[in-house]
Amino acid sequence: MPITPTSKIWMNGELVDWDKAQIHVLTHSLHYGMGVFEGIRAYETSTGPAVFRLTDHIERLFSSAKIMMMDIPFSVDEIVEATKETVRSTGLPSCYIRPIAFYGYGEMGLNTLPCSIDVAIACWPWGAYLGDDAVSKGVRMKISSWTRHNHNTMPPASKTTGNYVNSSLAKVEALKAGYDEAIMLNPQGFVSECTGENIFVSRNGVLLSPPLAAGALEGITQDSVMTIAADLGYEVRLSELARSDLYIAEEMFVCGTAAEVSAVNSVDDRSIPCPGPRTRAIADEYHKAVRGETDRYKDWCEHV
Ligand SMILES: Cc1ncc(COP(=O)(O)O)c(C=O)c1O
Repeated sequence: MPITPTSKIWMNGELVDWDKAQIHVLTHSLHYGMGVFEGIRAYETSTGPAVFRLTDHIERLFSSAKIMMMDIPFSVDEIVEATKETVRSTGLPSCYIRPIAFYGYGEMGLNTLPCSIDVAIACWPWGAYLGDDAVSKGVRMKISSWTRHNHNTMPPASKTTGNYVNSSLAKVEALKAGYDEAIMLNPQGFVSECTGENIFVSRNGVLLSPPLAAGALEGITQDSVMTIAADLGYEVRLSELARSDLYIAEEMFVCGTAAEVSAVNSVDDRSIPCPGPRTRAIADEYHKAVRGETDRYKDWCEHV
């Protein structure tokens, strides 16, 4: 997915030209993988661009940093405002947004305490992560041979850059085997999540999604979907899942900021009815909610 450059990137308190947003090759986080980041989307609404659940994302960024004992030298409000400023500066009606806090240049070695912390926010246009027809046709899934890291190895609650080595290994393995995306099991053998999405399956009419305790990130889309599903009258809850729950699911979808709501048509070559009626209804509602078209979810859209 090649990046489309935009005009400006916010770095440590100021907007700089896209090409000037550079760091030194001895930047600490490049070597040891300890940075924290977010993936956010801004959507075009009838009243201008709005960032979907921006404050929730920035609060999660600060939670990720707290878990890593990283003291971001800005407040939540300052980063929320800086994100809006960055989106405004590009003039884009919709975009993907990537805030990141990382240990900068100046120290080497594994003691992060003396390291300086840099913060950057970039945004650029980015289409459907799992393909334009992910809702209508669905995606093919493979259970990964890689195990999701556990809570005492790399805390899954933190969106730490280094955590994504695990996700990339699984993603590349799945793509090379001819699938679209990987499903990760946790060290206990239960379903955790995908490489960058949360999982929902319908079993006996109930929508189920693995919780943080199963090694999944507490997805903001997962939370939005649970609200939407309940408002549509579906029974929905967080639940541990075995891999066989996926094989015999009545329907299944994955969700995340990048992938939005994407239907699943098979897991390990066991076909799953796709797109199921709940998947379609939730995907439609989500599509409207992020664009500010549904009154009850308008507070989720934070205008820039
Ligand atoms: C590992 C992982 N799980 C789940 C998600 C979905 O989270 P969200 O809906 O907050 O984007 C993401 C995306 O950030 C992710 O990277």
